[in-house]
Amino acid sequence: MSEKGDIIKDTVGQSEAWSTVARGYDDMIRAFSAFHDYAATFGNLKSSDVVLDLACGSGGLTRIIHSKVSKVYCYDFAHKMIHIINCQVDADGIKNVFPTVGDGENLIYKDRFFDKIFSIYGLKFFPDRIKGLLEAFRVLKPGGRLILGIWAPVEELEMFNVLLDAMNKTLPQIEKPEHVSSMDSEDIMNSELTGVGFKDVVIEKKTFTVAFDTIETMFDGFVKGAPPFASIKQSMEADQWVDVRKEVLQHTEDTLGLFDKPNVSMTSFYVSGEKPHDNF
Ligand SMILES: C[S@@+](CC[C@H](N)C(=O)[O-])C[C@H]1O[C@@H](n2cnc3c(N)ncnc32)[C@H](O)[C@@H]1O
Repeated sequence: MSEKGDIIKDTVGQSEAWSTVARGYDDMIRAFSAFHDYAATFGNLKSSDVVLDLACGSGGLTRIIHSKVSKVYCYDFAHKMIHIINCQVDADGIKNVFPTVGDGENLIYKDRFFDKIFSIYGLKFFPDRIKGLLEAFRVLKPGGRLILGIWAPVEELEMFNVLLDAMNKTLPQIEKPEHVSSMDSEDIMNSELTGVGFKDVVIEKKTFTVAFDTIETMFDGFVKGAPPFASIKQSMEADQWVDVRKEVLQHTEDTLGLFDKPNVSMTSFYVSGEKPHDNF
């Protein structure tokens, strides 16, 4: 472990770290809309569904699903993420989206309230994931489904892999993590979901390509939107960062063999489990 620790774990559990990057995250995540589109398909939505978008970020999934369902409650512990959704709800006059700031390990909702709960690249980051899963189970109606998006191991995430490699070559003290989430194995997903009571667990793996104008837009977007990279930049003087950025871009260009129009593949797990009906 480097002296900076695990760059992912050190930042993703803090609400302030996510608030700091909220605007940049919202810009970055638009390039990943294929992952939200597939989550909506995988979730098999019905027009009567009352949905929770848990750890919703700036609302990438909510934007896609709110017109397909009855209501979407958005919940995230980073107040600036929720602010972005509130602004969009006001600007577009959206009536069926209800954003709230709160910790996913302690949901404010009553028991058996939701038909579907989505947590796309969210719940996997909770410090006490089992508590998060138990809370999701509590607020789901019997017969309701929890749907999770979980990034595959870093080797299967070309964009993260290339950028983390380039960062490690530039700053060797920044170790390259092998996992974005310790939940990225099918055994763990199965055992954690069934362990809290879900049944009929379905797991799919999907790969999509993410397109950027240049490697600069890819890297700069990632630094603005991803807490681990944002915190590395913040820890440096401006002129030191200029040199680091230049070197990281050079390593990235060397690996991908191009500067313009990088298309990088990213692989995601989609997992879902059903809350059983009472059998008494
Ligand atoms: C990678 S982003 C995913 C956002 C969104 N689900 C999406 O698909 O774009 C992770 C989000 O989880 C939120 N988050 C992390 N831990 C949380 C917790 N314990 N309670 C509520 N939100 C949390 C962060 O604030 C951040 O917005």
